[in-house]
Amino acid sequence: MQQKIIILDFGSQTTQLIGRRVRELNTFCEILPYNKFPYEDESVIGVILSGSPYSVYDPEAFKPNLDKLRNRYPILGICYGAQYMSHLYGGKVEPAGSREYGRANLCDFKSDNPLLKGFVANSQVWMSHGDTITAIPHGWNVIASTDKVKYAAYQACNEKLWGVQFHPEVFHSIQGSLLLKNFVVDICGSRQDWSPASFIESTVAEIKSQVGNDRVILGLSGGVDSSVCAVLLNKAIGSNLTCIFVDHGMLRKNEFHDVMHDYECLGLNVVGVDASDKFLSDLAGVTDPEGKRKIIGRDFVEVFNAEAKKITDARWLAQGTIYPDRIESLNITGKVIKSHHNVGGLPEEMHLGLCEPLKWLFKDEVRRVGRQLGMPEHLITRHPFPGPGLAVRILGDITREKVRILQDADDIYIQALRDYKVKLKGEDARKVLAAGVPGNMTDSGEVEVSLYDQIWQAGTILLSTVRSVGVMGDERTYEHPVALRAVTSTDAMTADWAHLPYDFMAKVSNDIINHVKGVNRVCYDISSKPPSTIEWE
Ligand code: XMP
Repeated sequence: MQQKIIILDFGSQTTQLIGRRVRELNTFCEILPYNKFPYEDESVIGVILSGSPYSVYDPEAFKPNLDKLRNRYPILGICYGAQYMSHLYGGKVEPAGSREYGRANLCDFKSDNPLLKGFVANSQVWMSHGDTITAIPHGWNVIASTDKVKYAAYQACNEKLWGVQFHPEVFHSIQGSLLLKNFVVDICGSRQDWSPASFIESTVAEIKSQVGNDRVILGLSGGVDSSVCAVLLNKAIGSNLTCIFVDHGMLRKNEFHDVMHDYECLGLNVVGVDASDKFLSDLAGVTDPEGKRKIIGRDFVEVFNAEAKKITDARWLAQGTIYPDRIESLNITGKVIKSHHNVGGLPEEMHLGLCEPLKWLFKDEVRRVGRQLGMPEHLITRHPFPGPGLAVRILGDITREKVRILQDADDIYIQALRDYKVKLKGEDARKVLAAGVPGNMTDSGEVEVSLYDQIWQAGTILLSTVRSVGVMGDERTYEHPVALRAVTSTDAMTADWAHLPYDFMAKVSNDIINHVKGVNRVCYDISSKPPSTIEWE
């Protein structure tokens, strides 16, 4: 049986990160709302309680009964999770004099405590809380303190129950992963057998038993999630899978052709539909960003459904939904951080069942599974690309000519990102390799990776509502600028603009202005998200 850790979500922004850290320990975990513990599930080996935006004294604070968990599973409370357990069982939590935020060092800790095995003196941790524990329940023991926080970590006497007020899941807690390993592996007894290979084996078996000999339809976008989903389904059911790839006319340069070719090489049964005339004529003259999105969404459903209906023996619709999409839709504080971009489902009269084989995976795990399945690296490391495509990167109305200009400029930019190599050392090098970025470490500890692989997402925006004067040869020009965008991120919910090298920007700017007719100026977007977004529309 697949062992699992349950992470009870009290609404912290870092709950997903706890999940990722546990998965990095080759251990399966599920993130569930704080009050949805699966008591009947025999495969649970331990429980983690997350942080929360609330104080234990807030009237809206989440306060589940933990009696049925205590003494049945090892428990680790993080931040609010630690404060809540202390508060619930007779300790004291009070507002901290000032908010405890940022780096701190564990100046005093019990090195023989199993949770802190291997910790070094002054280990750096990350604090982020407004309340603080001022007394722990009778008989519980403090196991680590910082100069400001006496109860930085505690353990209930003779029980497998721990609380830490710092955040072991964040990068700035230097030994945070070790703490989680001590808990998950040593204390909970994880066998660490959750891996891409084991995932593929069990998922292929599940797909076979779910869909049997039925036909399955899958919408492909060229992105990593739907592509990995297709290859996995193909492994399970082969020619019973029919994929549909719609070209709305606003993909990247040559993308429809290149991706169709990749899919065919992977042995997938794909129907390619060129619907660009329909999309572009329906979009003619429309300038409002939301208006454009609505038309594209509506047309996509129409085209996809018309194609799907031709597959009369289809019984299942597969989707490349991944875990973060589903966790976000469970967001318990009721605040929607990111709305779901997936296009609506198929008409009900088709009576299709839903098959979502990647629904437990984080993005980096999807990529690892893709590699394990032998997919080509350029499909796996592909940057995310929005469903409405270049339509949200052309300001104002869309014409074929504007799409052509943007495709040409964007192609130069993206190819240049792929060609430009950077050498990383030390911690930076280890981080990119750990994230699965292709690159080899040399004897001197350096790793060479492309700018493209270092960046979460890049793209070009045509500022077609703006014109500026330029001069080319002896001629005055009056044309459009393009903006280049490149961001670093882990999940697209927050993003920072990438600090691209000046020599790189200089070359790209020259190449675009010299080769793309219609563009006479190049800018670089230096806005972070929030307050900006990644896309311009
Ligand atoms: P924003 O612009 O909201 O984008 O910061 C966050 C991420 O979502 C992508 N994106 C979309 N993806 N349909 C999609 O499939 C859309 O309508 C859409 N809008 C934005 C964006 O490229 C980024 O990765």
